[in-house]
Amino acid sequence: MTAQDFILKTYNSNIQNGTVKWTSPSNIALVKYWGKKEHQIPENPSISFTLSNCKTITEVTYTKKESKDFSFDVYFEGEKNAAFKPKIQTFFERIEAYMPFLKAYHFKIETSNTFPHSSGIASSASGMSAIALCLMSIEKELGVSQSDSEESQDYFNQKASFLARLGSGSACRSIEGELVIWGKNESFKGSSDLYGVKFQGEVHKNFKNYQDTILLVDKGEKQVSSTVGHKLMFGHPFAKERFTQAHDNLAKLKDILASGDLIAFVKIVESEALTLHAMMMTSTPYFILMKPNTLEIINKIWTFREQTNSKVCFTLDAGANVHVLYPDCEKEMVLEFIINELAQFCQNGHYICDQIGSGAQLIKN
Ligand code: DP6
Repeated sequence: MTAQDFILKTYNSNIQNGTVKWTSPSNIALVKYWGKKEHQIPENPSISFTLSNCKTITEVTYTKKESKDFSFDVYFEGEKNAAFKPKIQTFFERIEAYMPFLKAYHFKIETSNTFPHSSGIASSASGMSAIALCLMSIEKELGVSQSDSEESQDYFNQKASFLARLGSGSACRSIEGELVIWGKNESFKGSSDLYGVKFQGEVHKNFKNYQDTILLVDKGEKQVSSTVGHKLMFGHPFAKERFTQAHDNLAKLKDILASGDLIAFVKIVESEALTLHAMMMTSTPYFILMKPNTLEIINKIWTFREQTNSKVCFTLDAGANVHVLYPDCEKEMVLEFIINELAQFCQNGHYICDQIGSGAQLIKN
């Protein structure tokens, strides 16, 4: 597929209005996307677990209007929200070439999250993928061909992911589950820089219902926005090696996912998280996004692993919160550990229990 393949050629302009609604999850990267080229093309491939509980629910009502400019209103948790408008305006500008009907309708976008807004959990992945899916449903309703074949379902998901990527890179990994790869990589046939693809390889039962408990160490605004963060990889002294390493780690993970080797899994996942932060610490300007409590948690996890032989591990986003990953069979033991030893390092003792999920769902068509 090329970007040209996603251009909608004709649509039924007689349709006056309608409403669509989707719920779309967040995702957590195992191999991290950090660094991008123009048009949201990643510098390296990434892979993520789709989450299950941390989701955005978005309803879009569209009404025919005179075609001129983009026209939309955003409501967040029931209240009109002007703060989200610039991001959506940019998103519409980026995707207009692929959805020529965007200026022909007014859109009322009503959105909410299942996780608290001020939790430090990035909502761009779930939020942008949910809007992209709503727009795809509208495209389908306006579409000349209404086929529900497997082929058209694949196209629907690919284009939804393609659009979501133009909103926020990691959002393209939130359409499907349970594991999604984004970025061209030799080990994965069909992988693309343009959209995320479902991991088609063998997945060992060790990864079934894999758990992710998100420890909210810092619920504040992100210290470094992802846009600024990705730019730090331009001219970064270690960029080339980092991008090569991501390719290698992805290839290794393919075998690990098949064999169920959790020791090897832990090594790659933790190394990826620390590499991401190492990139930030060694860029110009440099940042430390971990907090003292982030390190407390990491050290506690390492000690616990040594003492119990558990396969629990951590990963990080571009912030201080810690995602604690562990197999389903260790759920009871690790949760007890989290409650007794890690919750004290969370802001107001707050953490969110999630697990690997199967992707976005249509609620209303
Ligand atoms: C550290 O997808 O938020 O979470 O494309 O600029 O919207 P933009 O960036 P974004 O970057 C996420 C980076 C990350 C790692 C990852 O999810 O792979």
